[in-house]
Amino acid sequence: MQINTLSTTAYTDQKPGTSGLRKKVTVFQQNNYLENFVQSIFNSLDGFQGQSLVLGGDGRYFNREAIQIIIKIAAANGFSELIIGQGGLLSTPAASHIIRKYKAFGGIILSASHNPGGPDDDFGIKYNVNNGGPAPEKFTDALFENTNSITEYKIAEISDLDLDNIGQQQIDDLIVTIIDPVADYAELMASIFDFELLKNSISAGFITLCFDAMHAITGPYATRILEDILGAPKGTVINGIPLEDFGGGHPDPNMAHAKELTDLMFAEDCPTFGAASDGDGDRNMIMGANVFVTPSDSLAIMAANAHLIPAYAKGISGVARSMPTSQAVDRVATKMGLPCFETPTGWKYFGNLLDTGEITLCGEESFGSGSDHVREKDGLWAVLFWLNLIAKRRQPVEQIVQEHWQTFGRDIYCRHDYEAVDLEIANGIVEHLRNQLPGLAGQSFGDYTVKYADEFSYTDPIDNSVSNNQGIRIGFEDGSRIIYRLSGTGTVGATLRIYLEKFEADTNKHDQDAQHALSFLINLAEQFCEVKKRTGRTEPTVIT
Ligand code: G1P
Ligand code: ZN
Repeated sequence: MQINTLSTTAYTDQKPGTSGLRKKVTVFQQNNYLENFVQSIFNSLDGFQGQSLVLGGDGRYFNREAIQIIIKIAAANGFSELIIGQGGLLSTPAASHIIRKYKAFGGIILSASHNPGGPDDDFGIKYNVNNGGPAPEKFTDALFENTNSITEYKIAEISDLDLDNIGQQQIDDLIVTIIDPVADYAELMASIFDFELLKNSISAGFITLCFDAMHAITGPYATRILEDILGAPKGTVINGIPLEDFGGGHPDPNMAHAKELTDLMFAEDCPTFGAASDGDGDRNMIMGANVFVTPSDSLAIMAANAHLIPAYAKGISGVARSMPTSQAVDRVATKMGLPCFETPTGWKYFGNLLDTGEITLCGEESFGSGSDHVREKDGLWAVLFWLNLIAKRRQPVEQIVQEHWQTFGRDIYCRHDYEAVDLEIANGIVEHLRNQLPGLAGQSFGDYTVKYADEFSYTDPIDNSVSNNQGIRIGFEDGSRIIYRLSGTGTVGATLRIYLEKFEADTNKHDQDAQHALSFLINLAEQFCEVKKRTGRTEPTVIT
């Protein structure tokens, strides 16, 4: 194999964010932009010669071109095997599983998750390590340094590979294995959940369901598992064909973007269960007939009911949530005597806790939940978890949620996002908030007295690494919180996220609309951060 070493010029904007490098496709299409980043990944790794690398993406625009380039650079750098999903496709959780199952050295996942795709929209790339999870911060920091100093990259002079036929191809010393992207993952799901029970519940009509794949990667996974294996009727999976631009939609499973599903679930004669997943298949939205389950509640309910699922029947070791996720799961942990960890936003912070068995389940308010079965959040896993729960408890979603609140109380929760805010204004907002922090503790606003006001720092309990500046927190005496963060996944300007929560123990007050119940805190949040005043906006871009 002819290997060429080509000179290149560094780009200074290749800093990975919350989950890898995300930029507009047009940015990735710049001369050597992708090549630089991929070579920098390999420059930041040791000992991969002769090892295997998993490669796949969510199928968005530029996926195929990117895979062909990565194959050539990986071959030139000395990997001996590349394991690639057919058509260049792998959902993020499936990629994580495949890295683990085939003991690969690591994997490169191409996705910008829930961001829109297409020639003028977003693309992304991230590196996962051999536990199947996103590379830790010390790796992404080293990677960023390498992107700043790169002067050359290696590339093999081979022709484009056939990605569409399952099987092995040998190119000199390199083996390229094209795998069915779904089979291993479906097998894993069957080993976790009670598929017989699910089949029976579906065929008996006890569970009727709709799954919105949002024209993204979970289409083939959901069709195979829900329709082909579990016997749900054809048409259960809607928007099931992955499209390079997700059909022009925004593949983010929330009620704002999964509109078709949401309308269906709030209509008369709706199915008993509805769910959606995002661009790369790691997020989930759970709905019942006329009801939406917040991701924070979903995590708490999963933790409280995990013993009903075959894989977790012996009990779970502990739970974790990202800092802005509601404290609902903490209440479950306290009652069950389980350790509960609070980590910064981003799945990579769960990796050590999962690897060492400290936790079994974890989740984020941003429609992500997962367990120790892989090292990414997992959309279809969450869907199957809920289906298994409904079948086992023989109760509809609404009743499961109501009973949970009766037992643990309700953490009323919402998130307001202000997207594409001018960077200078956003930084001004953060500065303005920071300046107020030292004087806030002890001050009262209506019924709320500030208990603490600070910036969240995290010390990983396993490797003691410290992550600073992980969000501004204003916590009140009654446990209510207002949290502010700037997104690390956006590609236009800055996105300010405001997270609001309040605990309600009184069962008679559980059926409140969250926006209404949180209105005082919502106004207070504006008073502190002045996002409306400073941007001239009148409302958030998205409320979830
Ligand atoms: C967002 C979510 C975060 C999640 C990440 C990747 O990151 O808030 O919880 O881990 O996407 O899916 P953010 O844009 O807030 O940095
Ligand atoms: Zn995602």
